[in-house]
Amino acid sequence: MTSKILIIGACGQIGSELTYKLREIHGVDNVIASDINTRKLELVNAGPFVILDAKNFNAIKDCCINHNVKTIYLMAALLSATGEKYPMEAWDLNMNSLFHVLNLAKVKQIDHVFWPSSIAVFGPTTPKEDTAQHTIMEPSTVYGITKQVGERWCEYYHEKYGVDVRSIRYPGIISWKTLPGGGTTDYAVEIYHEALKNKAYECFLSEDTELPMMFMDDAIKATVDIMQADADTIKIRSSYNLAAISFTPKEIANSIQEHIPDFKITYKPDFRQAIADSWPKSIDDTTAKKDWNWEHAFSLKDITKEMLLQLGEK
Ligand code: SER
Repeated sequence: MTSKILIIGACGQIGSELTYKLREIHGVDNVIASDINTRKLELVNAGPFVILDAKNFNAIKDCCINHNVKTIYLMAALLSATGEKYPMEAWDLNMNSLFHVLNLAKVKQIDHVFWPSSIAVFGPTTPKEDTAQHTIMEPSTVYGITKQVGERWCEYYHEKYGVDVRSIRYPGIISWKTLPGGGTTDYAVEIYHEALKNKAYECFLSEDTELPMMFMDDAIKATVDIMQADADTIKIRSSYNLAAISFTPKEIANSIQEHIPDFKITYKPDFRQAIADSWPKSIDDTTAKKDWNWEHAFSLKDITKEMLLQLGEK
């Protein structure tokens, strides 16, 4: 039986697009999508799908044995804003799912692991501009703590047990196919939906809050590229800094106004402002560029054009 790829959290914002991309590369039947429920029917019906709880070690293990899974992309997580509301749930899901997958790799049930980290690993004491790969990391959100600790464990499993785990620190991801859920950077997706629907958006961050962002196509490309790279080129086994663009709510609003001149943005910062304020404004991704030739393609102008076009058609 040919070896298979399992995506855990396949109904989520990144998981869904990753599923389609990996099926394009490896064939529909070789990529098993899984999630805790069938909330995204289009994806559920698009190929092999199993209902899987990322917190259930035996369920993941059985799935790997039954389908000869050798690679797992662990995309299930509670994000920054939801994590602040449900700290223990975030810790439980984000950490236990990672241990389950790393432990399956440790005993060689599977051979390769992708696990996403985030700009949330950084905190208020981190230098904010061009944040370096190696720098002060004192995350102040539960989500950030799970990602920071997760990075340490990934590196540990690689060093001690030879586990081939690879990771990137995603910035805020902008996409039109699947909505994000529970993140602080979600405004940069919501704003396009509201611009088309109501020509107005009330932003939960202040106008000058600059954050690192990236278009989904670039994020998927990075994910595929790091997993396809030769093992010895992947020098960082915690997680790679990854950058594309940085902008503020005001700047994204301006770029929308180039297409929809009467679009209006207002600002009403809520608890997510403090989370955003604790994160970097821009990221230095020199190491990813050097080690596995990372390069982004989409500018803010490109993203706005594509988002308004695709959502408009939808
Ligand atoms: N997009 C994530 C969030 O806002 C950051 O990784 O929580």
